[in-house]
Amino acid sequence: MMNNGTLISLSGITKHYDTGKVKVRALQGIDLEIKRGEFIAIIGPSGSGKSTLMNIVGCLDTPTAGEYLLDGRPVANMGIHQLAAIRNKKIGFIFQNFNLLPYATAYENVELPLIFAGAPGAIRKEKIMRNLSMVGLSERADHKPTELSGGEMQRVAIARALANDPEVILADEPTGNLDTRSGKEIIEIFERLNVEGRSVVTITHDMSIAERCHRIVRLKDGIIESDTRNGNKI
Ligand SMILES: Nc1ncnc2c1ncn2[C@@H]1O[C@H](COP(=O)(O)OP(=O)(O)OP(=O)(O)O)[C@@H](O)[C@H]1O
Ligand SMILES: [Mg+2]
Repeated sequence: MMNNGTLISLSGITKHYDTGKVKVRALQGIDLEIKRGEFIAIIGPSGSGKSTLMNIVGCLDTPTAGEYLLDGRPVANMGIHQLAAIRNKKIGFIFQNFNLLPYATAYENVELPLIFAGAPGAIRKEKIMRNLSMVGLSERADHKPTELSGGEMQRVAIARALANDPEVILADEPTGNLDTRSGKEIIEIFERLNVEGRSVVTITHDMSIAERCHRIVRLKDGIIESDTRNGNKI
């Protein structure tokens, strides 16, 4: 499908939570276009709607209103199987707390999405070792999360997110639980993935990380307060 390189297109996205007495307007009309190969930081104060937005983009949550086109197709029309396939193959999601399976080795954690995708054993092994090597963890394949440092756990999570060669990497404060040096390693991996042509969108509170991204989207109270590319307004 021809779509001028646009991968993600959001228009008028709102998300309201009705929790009994109070109605939270987490997103109040988001228009955002993300092209293939972009490297974006989402910033903004706590509670401004960053995670809510990221979860919608990652098809982990649905908006209250508005339209989301992924690769030109409305996500709202997709069935659960199609959404599961998208989460498995098109999008790699990385969380602040890593979300690794605690009793599985690094190898097995990276293997899981490949099993879900139906990849045969020989191909799985090749891809797992390639991805672990990409994040510098070939020597840690047999380690469980408790036998890894925080930075290493996050690198396993990146290898897992890359398992099925997604077009876009979405990360919600991936360096939030890491020391500065480990955080720097994570952002350097993101830079390499972006140079390879993948879109990378990362939420961060760390301006030194945001400034390494090519575009900075700032949220405030559920709306986009500013959107700049290399310091210039979009
Ligand atoms: N499941 C939920 N039910 C009710 N309110 C929610 C829910 N999830 C988020 N909210 C509210 O929506 C608003 C946006 O939350 P969100 O998690 O997107 O913020 P954030 O920008 O990611 O913040 P942080 O930087 O602290 O992670 C907040 O006011 C939050 O309390
Ligand atoms: Mg958040």
